Order: sequence, then C-alpha cells, then structure tokens
Amino acid sequence: MNRRNFMLGAAGVGAVVVGGGLLARPSANGKPYDEYFRVLNEELKKNGPMRPCLVIDLDRLDHNIDQVVQSVKLPKHYRIVEKSLPSQGLIDYVSKRAGTRRLMSFHQPFINDDVVAFPDADILIGKPLPVRSAEVFYKNLKGSFDPSRQLQWLNDTPEHVQQYLELAKGLGAKLRINIELDVGLHRGGVAGNEVLGQMLSLIAANPANLEFAGFMGYDPHAGMAVPRILGSHEELFRKGMAIYQERADFTRNQYARLWREDLTLNAAGSPTYKMHEAETLSNDISVGTALLKPTHYDLDTLTAHVPAAYIATPVLKSVGPVELPALDGKSRIFSWWDPNQLQTYFIYGGYWMAEYESPKGLQFNSTFGHSTNQEIVNASPGVGLKVDDQVFFRPTQSEFVLLQFGDLVAVRGGKIVDYWAPMQG
Ligand SMILES: Cc1ncc(COP(=O)(O)O)c(C=O)c1O
Repeated sequence: MNRRNFMLGAAGVGAVVVGGGLLARPSANGKPYDEYFRVLNEELKKNGPMRPCLVIDLDRLDHNIDQVVQSVKLPKHYRIVEKSLPSQGLIDYVSKRAGTRRLMSFHQPFINDDVVAFPDADILIGKPLPVRSAEVFYKNLKGSFDPSRQLQWLNDTPEHVQQYLELAKGLGAKLRINIELDVGLHRGGVAGNEVLGQMLSLIAANPANLEFAGFMGYDPHAGMAVPRILGSHEELFRKGMAIYQERADFTRNQYARLWREDLTLNAAGSPTYKMHEAETLSNDISVGTALLKPTHYDLDTLTAHVPAAYIATPVLKSVGPVELPALDGKSRIFSWWDPNQLQTYFIYGGYWMAEYESPKGLQFNSTFGHSTNQEIVNASPGVGLKVDDQVFFRPTQSEFVLLQFGDLVAVRGGKIVDYWAPMQG
C-alpha cells in the first residue's frame, strides 16, 4: 500500500463528492474473455503450472517468423536477435523454421551457453563488450565452436580495437572485428570516416591478430513513431543508408585489402527490417522482438505481425467492491462512482513490464498500490473472472520479461505442447 497514493486517492474521492456533477462518471468496461483466451484459460487451469507464466503461442510465432523469412531474401540473410528471444529452446525453434544459424548476442554468459547449444552458429556480438568480458568468454569456451571462424566482436572506437588487439596477442589468436556504425540512432558507434580510418588502419597493420569482418548499423529510429516534422520513416531510412554507403565506399576505396565480398554488412532491427527490402548494400538483417510483438512494437512498420507472447497468472482472491485499509466501509464511494471498481481481485504476482490484455476492462488501483506478490486488479462484474481463472497480460518488451517466469510455456492450437528454459546468467 502506497501511503502517498492512498492520501491522494482519498482526497480525490472528496473532490469527486464536492465537485460531483462536473466529472463524467466512468462506464463499466468489463467484458469476458474472447474465444482465444477462453480456450487458453481452460488449458492453463487444467494443465498449466498455476503460477505466473510466460506463454508463447507457436501458431502466432510461426506467422511472424514467416513474415521475416518472406522479407529477408538472398543475398540477405536473417540473423536472430538472441537477447530478444532469450531461451535456447525458443531460438532453436526459430532457427529451424527460418533456416538460419546466425545469431546476434549481447551478453557474455549467454554467448558461452550459445556456443555449446549451437556449435555451428555464426555469432555477431551486438554491442561493444568490455575487453575483459571477451577474455572471460575465451576462458569459459567449451566445445567445437571456433571463434576465429564463427564469431565477430563488435568494436566502436580505435581504443576499443587496441584493447582487443592486446587480448588477441595474449591469446595467441586472431579475433574477427565488426565495426559499429552510427547510422542516425546516436547510440554510439563510428560517426565519421576519420575515426573509421584509424580503426581500419589498426586492423590492417595486425593481420596475424585481427581480421575485419564487417559493419553493424542498427536503425530502429527509422521505424519508430517520431513526430512527422523530424522526418518520415523513408527519409530517416534513406539518410541512414546513405551514411552506411559512405562508410562502405570509404573502406572499399581506402582499405581495398580489407574489403571482401563475404563481409557481414549487418542492418535493421525489428522496426525497420522490412524497409531493407528496398536496399542492396546490407546482407545481414537482425530481427528478434517482432517475432513476439510486445506492446512497444505496435508500430505501423509491423502491422503484419501478431502478438505471440502473453503473461498468464491465476486469480487468487475475488473480494467484491474495492475496500481500502482504514477507509473500510467508506471505500464504497469508489465503486459507487466507478463501476470498474465493483470487483476486486488479487492475482499471483504482478507489477510486470506488461499491460492488461484479457479479459478486457481490467484496471490497476493506484490508491492501493503495486505488489509483486499479490497485485490488486479491479474490474466491473462483466469480466466474469473467478478464483483460479487466468489474468492475461501482454509484455511491453521481450528481452527482460522472458527471463522472469521460469520455463516458457509453448502452446499450439490452445494446448500446451512444450516447455523451454529461459537463459541464465
Ligand atoms: C545492434 C542491434 N541490432 C538489432 C537489434 C534488434 O533487436 P529487436 O529486433 O529485438 O528489436 C538490437 C536491439 O536492441 C540491437 O541492439
């Protein structure tokens, strides 16, 4: 219970009573599950874990994978963004349906696990990891995966390349270096040819220990909702690709010995992957989150994708009209005013990065406050929820949320068909 919210809430009721007719009284929003969630609720009650769980709908996932596969055509290749789908079972499923062994990884413990689970993977690191983190990777390396052929480290500054050069010398190995480009996102990366030249010179001067492997240009800003005045998707995309082309031309002209046709020219991200059908420079397209489509990816560039991940959690208690501590019976004024507070439920867990999905018309009670143990949920009686029924949420993002629920629950046709462990570390 949040004391400050409680006081504000109580004061708010006073204002409502005094100001009465000035405010529009809310109407009841509650609706029962639609058929999709009715079936899922029955299945989870019968066969589910009856605790908060993360459900992946494989029919919907298939649809989203197929969208990507239809878009990313040779000579471009699809690269799975591992952090956004952080479960080896899930990644294995995607990689088989999409026919790709390319991964983009961002976290040293995950990389060490990936190389064991997917010894034939081609891995591009998606952020410029501290050199010590790379050293820890080599210390823990197991199995047949060969980093000198299958792994590209991402570097973003000449100093960073220098650190990786020292590591390579210490290991007596050759490291493959991919260079991060700033193509308009301004989240770091190389922003001009001068710095790029310094990095390429260092690589060119140390062929025994470093190999230039390509570029990474992440451009989600071109697919996100930005105010129109700042540029359309197409304008921002064109600008980003013009920068990418300038860096590629500079490298081809000034460092011809480093340029090879099999360089990895990585681009995209979920918001823009489809726009890359229109360009012929990149050959490696990263997509992760769009396969599950959490709410922050309700973008006009992803309208062909469907939500495929839900949090489901049982209702533990159903206690009628909302009642607040200390106000006790006087709390009736809340539900008298707002019929969406006529039902109060307490659910198993809560306070996730997620939005209510089903049944429709559920609302949080900010006066009562959040709980990660037993979150309060209010609704009008129309939702028809009973104890043991599931409340369904849509996550706002995938990468962190998927790690929070233990084994992911894979469903197909409304039936549980598999469980996949999330990544660890
Ligand atoms: C370098 C890079 N590429 C691609 C992506 C795209 O990931 P997603 O498709 O999950 O949005 C990300 C996400 O953060 C990224 O950092």
